[in-house]
Amino acid sequence: MTRKILVTSALPYANGAIHLGHLVEYIQTDIWVRFQKMRGNTCHYVCADDTHGTPIMLRAEKEGITPEQLIARVWQEHHDDFAAFHVAFDNYGSTNSNETKEFAQGIYRTLKAEDLIEVRSIEQFYDPVKNLFLPDRFIKGECPKCHAKDQYGDNCEVCGAAYAPTELIAPYSAVSGAKPELRSSDHYFFKLSDQRCQAFLRQWTKSGSLQPEAANKMQEWLGAEGESKLTDWDISRDAPYFGFEIPDAPGKYFYVWLDAPVGYMGSFKQLCAKQGIAFDDYWGPDSDAELYHFIGKDILYFHALFWPAMLRHAGYRTPTKLFAHGFLTVNGAKMSKSRGTFITAASYLKRLNPEWLRYYYAAKLNGSMEDIDLSLDDFIAKVNSDLIGKYVNIASRCAGFIGKRFAGKLGSVDATATAEFETTYKAGEIALSFENRDYGRALREIMRLADVANLYIAANKPWEMAKQEGRETDLHTVCSTALTLFRDLTLYLKPVLPKLAEQVEAFLNIPALAWTDDWSPLAAGHAINEYQHLMTRIEPKQVDAMVEENRQSLEPTPTPAPTRHAEHQQHEATTDEVKTATPDYITIDDFAKVDLRIARIISANHVEGADKLLRLELDIGEAKPRQVFAGIKSAYDPATLVGRMTVMVTNLAPRKMKFGLSEGMVLAASGDAPGLFILSPDAGAQPGMKVK
Ligand code: 2FM
Ligand code: ZN
Repeated sequence: MTRKILVTSALPYANGAIHLGHLVEYIQTDIWVRFQKMRGNTCHYVCADDTHGTPIMLRAEKEGITPEQLIARVWQEHHDDFAAFHVAFDNYGSTNSNETKEFAQGIYRTLKAEDLIEVRSIEQFYDPVKNLFLPDRFIKGECPKCHAKDQYGDNCEVCGAAYAPTELIAPYSAVSGAKPELRSSDHYFFKLSDQRCQAFLRQWTKSGSLQPEAANKMQEWLGAEGESKLTDWDISRDAPYFGFEIPDAPGKYFYVWLDAPVGYMGSFKQLCAKQGIAFDDYWGPDSDAELYHFIGKDILYFHALFWPAMLRHAGYRTPTKLFAHGFLTVNGAKMSKSRGTFITAASYLKRLNPEWLRYYYAAKLNGSMEDIDLSLDDFIAKVNSDLIGKYVNIASRCAGFIGKRFAGKLGSVDATATAEFETTYKAGEIALSFENRDYGRALREIMRLADVANLYIAANKPWEMAKQEGRETDLHTVCSTALTLFRDLTLYLKPVLPKLAEQVEAFLNIPALAWTDDWSPLAAGHAINEYQHLMTRIEPKQVDAMVEENRQSLEPTPTPAPTRHAEHQQHEATTDEVKTATPDYITIDDFAKVDLRIARIISANHVEGADKLLRLELDIGEAKPRQVFAGIKSAYDPATLVGRMTVMVTNLAPRKMKFGLSEGMVLAASGDAPGLFILSPDAGAQPGMKVK
């Protein structure tokens, strides 16, 4: 029975480039959709740009263009990047569309009629210079818990604390630098705390629409039975705002996260108009279609709570399932501009084949919410070994003989050699792995079969048969059999490598491969086309060059996009310029490079001609004390330092100064207020002990 399926990926914000982190989701979704289409199911895949909100408005202003101009430009960039990675949306729209506007306003009106909207006055920070209310991420200040400077208004990226912007110490506007003022204003709330919403969400959580990890999160958010942990959701923002006006509420706009998921409907509505699909067959309350949203785990809160509750109470069907995935790390760490691992789609495409990345991601994905790592060395090794060494190799070793010796026509196929392939195909395990989004499992099985095919070729050695008298038929059979096996592997790989599969279809001169229930070998007498080289190996220098191009100086440290970690907060799209404070993590190995030791100060003296320096001699358990010139003269009388224990960096390259050689560095703390404070270990620490 053919299934009716509607699939979405999360809508990327219209103010930043698509990067390899984003692509984990789009590639994953595209593979699934292609698989469903190959199975003969009706499957529609829609997406759109997420275009509203303060950051996009400010970004356009900064560029001296209108938000509409900005989002049109970015739409084209996103569209082109996706197309280049073979992500084949059936419709790629924009939330700034009439369709999305009508759905958003319609949903709002119904929720209001259902008494699920409430107006409340709230106090919020206002930028008196820019004349706008500031989203939390646009307010910065000192963390109330750990006192780290320049933290965002919603959570501290140093200590992880979550708080309200009003709790920040010395807050300032990240837009103008002005001190924000608290002002009150009427806001519109969706009453998520209403008993109807809570009861529905509890039941929905149990309905199997969520992965186990996601269902656990939901339980946490909902609290125990009888508990009422959900709070109402603020869905309005005050002018000036780039978005849709709330009906009958002049100067009030829908918060970007209200209309973002509605963009799924808006984009699908456009597809319906183009293809004559009945919208209600997919979104109506009685729809028997399947609806799946692929999302990152960071936006589960929006999709698992707000979205189903909105749909349910506005008279639409709810999603069949949410498929949440983890984040991407590169070489085991968060994507980083300084390391050159914050790689945009466009920069990848300059040198590398998009299907290499599709293959590698697929090999790593297993349908869970775990993070996946793109280890660049492993990427090179795996693609070269699997795709070139195992898969392409089958065709390249056999195709030539068919062309040269048999006028391009296939011979009969050895049924014993294809038996395992036929059984595997009919058993449907590979299809099941694709269905379950466990692409890693599917590819392991496919590569096992590739090994079987290669063993068959190695055992029969067509290159030797070709030189032997009277082995024409054997040669013909071996090569034709190997090409049938290659055809099967291509079918399995087609959701992952659609372009390569098309090349193979052209070479084998066969119709587009479909994943039906029947299996038959390529027919004897069937004419194939001349073999053209299918895929090249990845050269490490191509990857090195890409990383080098993406490497940027440490300042400023940007935030990689898939890092919106605080699931409980309502996020705004944030521009690259403003989003600057995510720490650029180092690994434990990086830290271990710094040799920190306990040191005893054995002498401390003024240095003639130096305003800031003291000359210290430090015992770190070595035969000879180290000499260090430390800039602590303003804070310490040298006499008080003698005999003190402190901490020094011992493996800094020695520095020749005009007063002598400085052989290390003494650590001292300082803040905005005057004062310098050298460190002291607890009693018991001995000179030379390692600090780690
Ligand atoms: O987190 C994001 O990048 C959002 N733009 C995703 C929106 S998904 C959907 F709700 F529209
Ligand atoms: Zn903090």
